[in-house]
Amino acid sequence: MSSDIFVDKIRNLKSKEEFIIPENKYEEKENLNYESLFALSNGYLGIRGSHEEGTKSTLPYFFINGVFDKSETFMRELVALPNPLGIKFYIEKELIGIENCEILKYSRELDIKNGILWKCLILKDKYGRETKIEGCRFVSRKNIHRIGIIYNLTPLNYGGIIEVESETDGRIINFLDAPRFKVKHTKLVRNEKLNSSGGNYIEVATRDNELHVGVGSYVEAYKDEKLILNNRKFNAFGELTSEFGDVTLETGEVATFIKYISVFTENDVDKDDIKLKSENEITGFLNQGIFEELKEHCLKYKSMWDIADIKIDGDKELNKAVRFNIFHLMSTGSEVNDNINVGAKLLTGEEYGGHAFWDTELFMLPFFSYVFPNIARNLETYRYKLLNAAKENARKNGFKGAQYPWESADDGSEQCPAYTIEPDGSCYRCYVADYEHHVTAAIAYGIYNYTRITGDIDFFCNKGIYILIETARFWASRCEYISEKDRYEIRKVTGPDEWHEPVDNNVYTNYLARWNLLYVKRSLDKIKAENSKIYYSILEETHFTDEESTLWREISDKIYLPKMEGVNILEQFEGYFKLEDCIIEKYDKNDWPIRPEILKTIPVYKTRLIKQADIVMLLHLLREEFTEQEIKDNYYYYEKRTLHGSSLSPSIYAITGLKIGDAKKAYRYLKRAAFIDLLNLQKNTREGIHAANAGGVWQVVIFGFAGVDIDEAGELSIKPSMPKEWRSLKFRLHHREKLLEITVYGDNRYEVKNIS
Ligand code: BGC
Repeated sequence: MSSDIFVDKIRNLKSKEEFIIPENKYEEKENLNYESLFALSNGYLGIRGSHEEGTKSTLPYFFINGVFDKSETFMRELVALPNPLGIKFYIEKELIGIENCEILKYSRELDIKNGILWKCLILKDKYGRETKIEGCRFVSRKNIHRIGIIYNLTPLNYGGIIEVESETDGRIINFLDAPRFKVKHTKLVRNEKLNSSGGNYIEVATRDNELHVGVGSYVEAYKDEKLILNNRKFNAFGELTSEFGDVTLETGEVATFIKYISVFTENDVDKDDIKLKSENEITGFLNQGIFEELKEHCLKYKSMWDIADIKIDGDKELNKAVRFNIFHLMSTGSEVNDNINVGAKLLTGEEYGGHAFWDTELFMLPFFSYVFPNIARNLETYRYKLLNAAKENARKNGFKGAQYPWESADDGSEQCPAYTIEPDGSCYRCYVADYEHHVTAAIAYGIYNYTRITGDIDFFCNKGIYILIETARFWASRCEYISEKDRYEIRKVTGPDEWHEPVDNNVYTNYLARWNLLYVKRSLDKIKAENSKIYYSILEETHFTDEESTLWREISDKIYLPKMEGVNILEQFEGYFKLEDCIIEKYDKNDWPIRPEILKTIPVYKTRLIKQADIVMLLHLLREEFTEQEIKDNYYYYEKRTLHGSSLSPSIYAITGLKIGDAKKAYRYLKRAAFIDLLNLQKNTREGIHAANAGGVWQVVIFGFAGVDIDEAGELSIKPSMPKEWRSLKFRLHHREKLLEITVYGDNRYEVKNIS
């Protein structure tokens, strides 16, 4: 191994500018945003883009998907695990760090093509000593239990002993910067040497379920193919595990420091074997060599991008932003684990506790189903595995069938808290879980969508149909028959627009409930015609009866769908048109609606202003139930009244706008959505990446501008509406057993190649 190993072997791996998200200046106030933007995940674990040596403002979270704990919090949340990133360099006790040195050069780059976080620093300490630190880190997609960090360190104008501390920090807690909410979800089990040759190992257990998690690491230093780390020493400082060593360098000499990390939980291996497994993994990692691992990791990313990439000719910055969203989505989905889902902030931040929402089914699942169907299948299997828990939720709430939780973690029980404490200390009664029932329809819609895209009949007949029947049962019991009006209603409910809660007869919810009831009936008829044996076994297992079927038909026929008299406009909920009307007229420099003045005098729930796509979400999902004119009229009506207080909104307006010819606005919406995190437009990127929005961005390009559509039978159609800014658009999709490459040109001509 030569000292310029980094130059030769690694820098070549750095991708071209179009795949690089740069940070060229260190600003403390921006650090938390960059920690989210630069988070790396591999379907198993996720780690934020924190600096290895630590900074004042930091939330250095390390999560493993599926490791949840409640303890004193309101809900089970992803546990902040011992953070293995720590590497600190010192010259004579002086930390060489960005916050205590003068920064002569600063560059961090997220390489979204290869899933690598690059770093290059030249730091000058108070004695004028200049040090160059250049390297990268990655969480291996090839071997998901491995994390690697490589740094070349060069003393530029001095020589001497450089000390290194390699740490894994078990003191990190959730809500680290919020005194009121701080919580420690783990307790220490072991803090010891990894093995006789060195390294460190920390094992913790979650407090509620005693789930063990072990993190091992080993640091090495090399110069001219030789191992040069001296005075290796293990230290256990309470919940901090640390390995110390030093190297001696002349001016201009380069030492390569490598940290090999491995992580396992009791979900992966028997509790008593976690340490051994961790140790063996590090031995394997060392033997294979970090460069080999990195190469394989890049190859894995290459194979993923071969399917997932979207090439836009005509707008480079937007193309990069679209890729950035795809990068985070595909980095988080797991192709091997069907016990986990994708949280609303992926694995990039602690907001929403790592919980899965309707965001998964309606925003992310289309991407996974078309691009990584094996990941999509796992996401849907997760819902199937939690079907019994959803039945229990329904039972607890006095309903039949299965009621999926608004927020879902590992056991399928409702994880949306009934109470939260606001930052000012006041207690807030949160009604979302009580009333936002439409998530159950979203799960049913997800089954439908996944199946029509992938053609996975096996999943549908053995798992999906059971979800559909039980969710239909929930809706049938949730609908009330109002005899004086001879109709069914869903009272006290919250639709996607959370600023009006609860309401009666939210049209979105009523339509989706009706859709669920009708679709399951159609599906059962189809299964009966195609395979009566399966049909009867489904009936037997679910005790589905003719009476039930008749009731579902009746509810579907008589469910109340409020609408404005004499025109096409649907009424978002009963009484909506009686509210104070107000139209959005002003937009800020980022092209975002400015809250109308009226909101200074009356609360939003008394107005027709809404948080996010609600009726327009309905038009997006059940387009075929509406005429083009109905879509147009409703889109224009609600567009003027939507403040996009949620990131789940712009993409849906973009797609629907395109269907009815509002191309100009759609492009603005796409830009807004694509840059939401890169420009921190929602002002909360520090909490994590907006996962649903990322899926929405993909949908705008594919369903909106490329006009890809699919009918219930799985027939694919393409009807592009290319923006004038784009010369061409190229992407790939799985469609059933085929892999298609689709190229769309500026004049809306397109080509489809079967490349499977
Ligand atoms: C939105 C919900 C969404 C949740 C998680 C909320 O602000 O209103 O629709 O599911 O965020 O992303």
